[in-house]
Amino acid sequence: MLGAAGLSLAAQKGRARLRLSRAKHKGLVGHVRMAKRAAGLVPPYAFDRAQFFRADGAADEVVRRREQGFARLSQLYRERFPDTVARTAALRDSVPDIAFTSAYRVPFPFSPVVREALPAGGFWQKSEGVTLIDLDGNTFYDLTGSYGVNLLGNDVYKAMIARGVETAVQLGPVLGGLHPVVADNVERLKAISGLDAVSFHMSGTEAVMQAVRLARYHTGRSHVVRFAGAYHGWWGDVQPGIGNPVPADRTYTLADRSEATLDVLATRSNIACVLVNPLQAMHPNSQAPGDSALVNSSRRAGVDRAGYSAWLKRLAETCRASGIVLIVDEVFTGFRLASRGACEYFDIRPDLVTYGKTLGGGLPVGVLCGRADLMRRYKPERPADICFARGTFNSHPYVMGTMDAFLDWHGSAEAAALYQGVDERWNARAASLNARLEAGGHSPRIANLGTVWSVFYTRPSRYNWMLQYYCRAGGLALGWTGTGRLIFSLAYGETEFGEVADRFVRAVEGFEADGWATAPDGASDRDLGHQVLREVAAAKLGLR
Ligand SMILES: Cc1ncc(COP(=O)(O)O)c(C=O)c1O
Repeated sequence: MLGAAGLSLAAQKGRARLRLSRAKHKGLVGHVRMAKRAAGLVPPYAFDRAQFFRADGAADEVVRRREQGFARLSQLYRERFPDTVARTAALRDSVPDIAFTSAYRVPFPFSPVVREALPAGGFWQKSEGVTLIDLDGNTFYDLTGSYGVNLLGNDVYKAMIARGVETAVQLGPVLGGLHPVVADNVERLKAISGLDAVSFHMSGTEAVMQAVRLARYHTGRSHVVRFAGAYHGWWGDVQPGIGNPVPADRTYTLADRSEATLDVLATRSNIACVLVNPLQAMHPNSQAPGDSALVNSSRRAGVDRAGYSAWLKRLAETCRASGIVLIVDEVFTGFRLASRGACEYFDIRPDLVTYGKTLGGGLPVGVLCGRADLMRRYKPERPADICFARGTFNSHPYVMGTMDAFLDWHGSAEAAALYQGVDERWNARAASLNARLEAGGHSPRIANLGTVWSVFYTRPSRYNWMLQYYCRAGGLALGWTGTGRLIFSLAYGETEFGEVADRFVRAVEGFEADGWATAPDGASDRDLGHQVLREVAAAKLGLR
């Protein structure tokens, strides 16, 4: 009798495990432990100057073009950015983040030569309209977007910060008790989110931490589901695998847009919450694209708005039926895709929603809005069982002042006009640039989710990351992830956008003319990928 019960339990457990493994995306992005182990096995190796230009086995004529183009670009960088680069280099050993970003702008074997010949500066002296000015006085169109904070143009945030200071100055930096402006902010955030209660934090990461903690507290369940590739800040539980030195044992990384995932959500009883980052609509089951991983042209992006929206509806229904808290992480997409963010754009009704970035009106912030029952920090029926969530600088009066300025803008007629047709406007801009790229027979193309753009490449090449250096030379400022993410602000009018498009096409022309955009005849992305694997294996065996 006992034996039969034991067998049945074991069979049940086996089925649950099988369901879970079916719901993992089949690539390394879905197997975070394996990815981490694999990453740990990659040996260091680097191309010297001679190998650098012919890593793909290019013909001598192409290698010569690459060498000449590289030398020209290197001289331009030396002449144009001396002060910005010197100051960045001087700080590199003292600020590990600078050392990290400068090492990881391109695939690592190419990095030493690039760093030496094409050093990218890490300083700006001012912003003006849609431009940034470096320490040498060079003006760049800002496509960095300040990690997504810059939705309205930097000048608007400067004014919001000045207004925030005016609002808060009488109280000053008093913490604990609240500035009266908090009440207004709370009311407006409740209206925007359609939810009952609000908490303020210091970063998007902390807002996500709080959301997950509350979901665990109220459901009494342990596990968090995130989708493969999705970023939710740098807290360990939502960043399992590469980048996190400890295992995240209570996180399931499941496949996005997958029936098998819905099956797991419907049947497991230990899942507290599911996190959705709507930016993943651009590339479900892939990491945010960075040029350091651009080893061939397999990067793809594109948005299926109706399909993603339908998936989220089914996800929400499944969560609801299973008592799982649905958290939509709008830290990036909030206020950007539409007035009410991705929740409006994709028509989602979450239980909890996180905001950050632009909502701070230019100052650091994270916000959580949620259903009253989920936001409560204590349980009347068990008074000693509380959910602790604090933070010294939460609701800082100056941040609340700048948020008030942002929310004033958000409620204005000017904002309503700006949001009107915003998606169509940016889709049309992306389409017009793509038409030019296609007509010119060029390899790069644009995929976009509104103002968030990603460049992908239609012809196999190992050197697509070189495009970022032509962009910079042409006065386009990109974030450290290069052509993976271009982030526009809504301050871009037709004229400024036209100038960016012209510069981008010129950068592409230079990049292609210098021989970086194509692989040797007949080589596919798969071949290039195998080439990289062979190099890694040779380095591991000490053969290179
Ligand atoms: C979707 C999402 N969630 C959370 C975060 C973390 O926010 P922060 O960097 O303010 O901690 C980010 C930051 O990029 C994000 O894009």
